[in-house]
Amino acid sequence: MSDILVHTEAGVCTLTFNRPDKKNSITAAMYGALADALQAAEADATVRCVVFQGSEAIFTAGNDIADFLHQPPAGQDSPVFRFLRGLAQFPKPLVAAVCGPAVGVGTTLLFHCDLVYAGDNAAFSMPFVNLGLCPEAASSLLVPQMLGYHRAAEALLLGEPFMAEAALEVGLVNRVLPPLEAAGYAQSIARKLAAKPISALMETKRLMKKGQAAQVLAVMADEGVSFGRMLGEPAAREAFTAFMERRKPDFTKV
Ligand code: COA
Repeated sequence: MSDILVHTEAGVCTLTFNRPDKKNSITAAMYGALADALQAAEADATVRCVVFQGSEAIFTAGNDIADFLHQPPAGQDSPVFRFLRGLAQFPKPLVAAVCGPAVGVGTTLLFHCDLVYAGDNAAFSMPFVNLGLCPEAASSLLVPQMLGYHRAAEALLLGEPFMAEAALEVGLVNRVLPPLEAAGYAQSIARKLAAKPISALMETKRLMKKGQAAQVLAVMADEGVSFGRMLGEPAAREAFTAFMERRKPDFTKV
C-alpha cells in the first residue's frame, strides 16, 4: 500500500500519511506524491477542498531522517520544495486533522492550511535547531506572526513542543477534539466547504492571502538555500547520525 493515500469523495480529496512503521515520516517519494496530488486536486474541478490527515496516534514525524542523511533534497526543484510551493499557492481550501506528534514539516505545513482540527493528544514541534537546521516552509515568517516573537523563539530556537490547547490559544488550531473524532470532524467541515460555491471560496482565500503571498514564497526560497546548505554541515550530520544510532547528539565538537 502507498505511503500517501489519496481518496476523493463528495468534492473532498483526502491525503493520508500512511507509513506507520516509521511514524509517518516523509520521504522524497512521499513529497513527490503529495506535490502531484495537490497539482491534480487543483486541476480537477470536482475537487473543492483538500484534507491532510495521519492516524489518531501520529500525524507525521516530519522529514525522513535517513533521507536527510543519504539523499538530501538538492535544489528548489526537489520534491520537498515542489510540495511546499504547491502548498503555499494552493488556491482551494486546505483542512488538516492532526493527532499525536506533528514534527517539523508536520507543524509548518499547518501554517498554510485554512482550518486545523486537533486531537487532544496532538503535539506540535519544530526542532530544526536541535537538528542543526533552520526553519522551512516560510515558518520563520509565519510562526512569529501567529505565536508572537517570544513564543516563536521557544518553538523555533529551543525547539520545544507545544500541545493542542496551546495551539488553540494562539490560533493555529480551530478546535480540539478527542483523537478518535478529529478526522471525522475535519471531514464534516471539508464537506461543508465543498457544498459552497467554489469561485467564492477561492476568491476569498486569494484575497486573504494576497497581502503576503509573494513574501511567503521569497522567504521559503531564502530558507531553502540555508536549509540545503546546513543539511551537509557537521551539526546536522551529527544530529541525523545520533538519531539513527539512538543516542543523544554531541555538538561539542562541531
Ligand atoms: N525519520 C526516519 N525514521 C523515523 C523518523 C524520522 N523522522 N521518526 C521516527 N522514525 C522511525 C524510528 O527510527 C523507528 O524506526 P525503527 O522501528 O526501524 O527503529 C520508528 O520510526 C519508530 O520511532 P520511535 O522513535 O521509536 O517512536 P516513538 O513513538 O518513541 O517516538 C517520535 C515518536 C515522532 C516522537 C520520534 O520518532 C521522533 O522524535 N522522531 C524524529 C522527529 C524528527 O526529528 N523529525 C525531523 C523533523 S525536521
